[in-house]
Amino acid sequence: MQKIAIYPGSFDPVTNGHLDIVERGLYIFDKIIVAILLNPTKNSFFAVEERMEMLKDSMKQFKNVEFDTFDGLLVDYARQCKANAILRGMRAVSDFEYEFQLALMNRRLQRDIQTVFLMTGLRWIFTSSSIIKEAAQFGGDIEDMVPPIVNERLKQKYAHEH
Ligand code: PNS
Repeated sequence: MQKIAIYPGSFDPVTNGHLDIVERGLYIFDKIIVAILLNPTKNSFFAVEERMEMLKDSMKQFKNVEFDTFDGLLVDYARQCKANAILRGMRAVSDFEYEFQLALMNRRLQRDIQTVFLMTGLRWIFTSSSIIKEAAQFGGDIEDMVPPIVNERLKQKYAHEH
């Protein structure tokens, strides 16, 4: 049986921390589907199309990775994809409570899909999409935390503010 994992998230935008999780996840899974949640209630910074373009560009070196969007319940989407796992990265303690809730709810909803956590690489432990956007907004150098395309796009977006 093929081991397929869904790697879900907002990816607003993708960071080097996300790349690290996918790269390491590929040692465990035969295929990873990186899936952007279509969330009309959450105000995203980048449009879905832009987020998708940045994801694809920054992960083009990986084989066995597919890209998609989803709405509704994650476990329903995972089932549709015949995935048997949900892949999530875990950073510092602050992630734990939310991730634990999410994993337990998903398990309650669908017992045959397992959530697998990978500890984020030490280099990326304090990297998050929101803190990167904040630093970029005020002209901070975030080049070594994001793929080149994301660095470019952030610069473009915030250019008018300087
Ligand atoms: O990058 P994020 O914002 O931390 O990702 C959160 C995500 C997309 C994994 C989560 O919000 C999600 O799975 N949403 C879909 C609805 C769902 O299934 N929620 C969990 C059970 S109620």
